[in-house]
Amino acid sequence: MALPITAAGFSWSHTDRDQPAVGPLDLQIAAGEKVLLLGASGAGKSTFLHAVAGVLPEESGEATGELLVGGEKPDPRRGSTGLVLQDPDSQVIFSRIGDDVAFGMENLGLPSETIDAQVPESLQALGLDLPPEHPSAALSGGQKQRLALAGIHAMAPEVIVLDEPTANIDPASAAEVRDAVLTVQAETQATMLVVEHRVELWIDHVDRVIVLGRDGIAAQGPPAQIFSDPDLTDTLVDCGIWMPRHSPDSRRGGTAEINRTTGRLGEVLLRTHRLSVARPRMAAPTAAGLELSLRAGQALGIVGANGAGKSTTALTLAGLLPEFSGQVLAEAALREGAKRARPFAWPSKQLAARIGMVFQEPAHQFLTSSVATELELGPRLAGWSAAESQARVDELLEGLGLTGLAQAHPQSLSGGEKRRLSVAAMLAPRPRVLIVDEPTFGQDALTWARLVEMFLDVLEHGSAVVAVSHDQAFLEAIGADLLQLGDRSSAEQADISGSDSHVRAGDRGE
Ligand SMILES: Nc1ncnc2c1ncn2[C@@H]1O[C@H](COP(=O)(O)OP(=O)(O)OP(=O)(O)O)[C@@H](O)[C@H]1O
Ligand SMILES: [Mg+2]
Repeated sequence: MALPITAAGFSWSHTDRDQPAVGPLDLQIAAGEKVLLLGASGAGKSTFLHAVAGVLPEESGEATGELLVGGEKPDPRRGSTGLVLQDPDSQVIFSRIGDDVAFGMENLGLPSETIDAQVPESLQALGLDLPPEHPSAALSGGQKQRLALAGIHAMAPEVIVLDEPTANIDPASAAEVRDAVLTVQAETQATMLVVEHRVELWIDHVDRVIVLGRDGIAAQGPPAQIFSDPDLTDTLVDCGIWMPRHSPDSRRGGTAEINRTTGRLGEVLLRTHRLSVARPRMAAPTAAGLELSLRAGQALGIVGANGAGKSTTALTLAGLLPEFSGQVLAEAALREGAKRARPFAWPSKQLAARIGMVFQEPAHQFLTSSVATELELGPRLAGWSAAESQARVDELLEGLGLTGLAQAHPQSLSGGEKRRLSVAAMLAPRPRVLIVDEPTFGQDALTWARLVEMFLDVLEHGSAVVAVSHDQAFLEAIGADLLQLGDRSSAEQADISGSDSHVRAGDRGE
């Protein structure tokens, strides 16, 4: 079963914003059609998906025109639409994963025998080889995304809307998750609307591409036509679309231009000695035998599959988790008067002045009530003058395309805007060591290039950057050495301290 979606002059404006978040849109999506929805970060993609799922809170804004799903106003209580949200954390509700998968089916009033039989099957279908009683809290970001998809699989809805379903999933598994989505769609023949910046993953599997522009639809048509029409190229580039088989910023000569060669590395800032890492209360380490040294101006990428311990390693290097065994040690150039050598032993003020950490989930990080004050906080705490701080804030706002949102509340930003803000707020004071977890997720091709420039800037100023990332192009663009976790190579980690023994991004010596 499937339902059509029609929009006539439909727009949605948040009460506290001048511009509509989306629209006005005129649009007809046929029952059973598969649509890839594209557009710059902030173009209104998530807003439209939420509208289709009927979950835009009425009191938070104003709609114009009409939006109908199956000829009726969207209503989440009918259970006809399955929605996978952009932020995987916000949709994990229960403490056991099986209950999360069952939730949608329970809302539909299915008998418990049906539910009990379906839960393990749906977990399996999404590659979650875990028992239903497995604790939800123990899932990685990517696993949470799969869990949400398992819930949709189990529900078999008439309309499936997916907001960047593979953004937190490692590239090797992204195609598997996509195929699982397509299997659900094929089984149910549901209408499918998917938002994803990674165009190539989907173009061979959708009927139509719709590009949201500043005011309404900028382009639409079958993928083959959209991406081969030379008249559309400029429009698509302006909308920040990642063109298939093109470099992210093709008008400026592509990534090659911003590629950076390592070489001018400064003194060692941080070193590990036989480090193994684990989350609190875990009996065994997730990664072990890490011998690293990190120099001023050096970028290190931590790569590996979901659940390999990348974020745990990042948090341990950042002094936010204690070592499971072995040590993380700051060298004199980073210590600068701190008595202890272990960052974990530093008081929080000392830590914050030396090591900046950007968490995987941007929303966990905001401390103030406006975009501008959020960016100003770091430089102020680091003792920059008011004029210097202001200049840095202006530079970052401009660079991130957030100038128009300077007074907006950080929590009211789109997914990609939040990510840019959380990264920029940490980059702002140029800490000596910067540790970032998936810094580029949710970015369009233009905002991605801006972020790369900001990282190159802090590296040139002598910061060291550790980036957990599935984004190979990003790691290449910042000239990162790679630490591969989660397979044999993590146990026999090469010493990457010397500048001539670098393992280059994209070259894993396989
Ligand atoms: N709760 C909110 N209150 C006010 N403005 C909001 C709110 N949520 C989103 N916006 C604004 O509405 C616009 C569209 O947001 P939306 O989340 O739909 O964008 P998006 O296309 O999904 O972007 P991204 O690719 O970054 O996820 C943005 O300018 C955003 O800042
Ligand atoms: Mg979004």
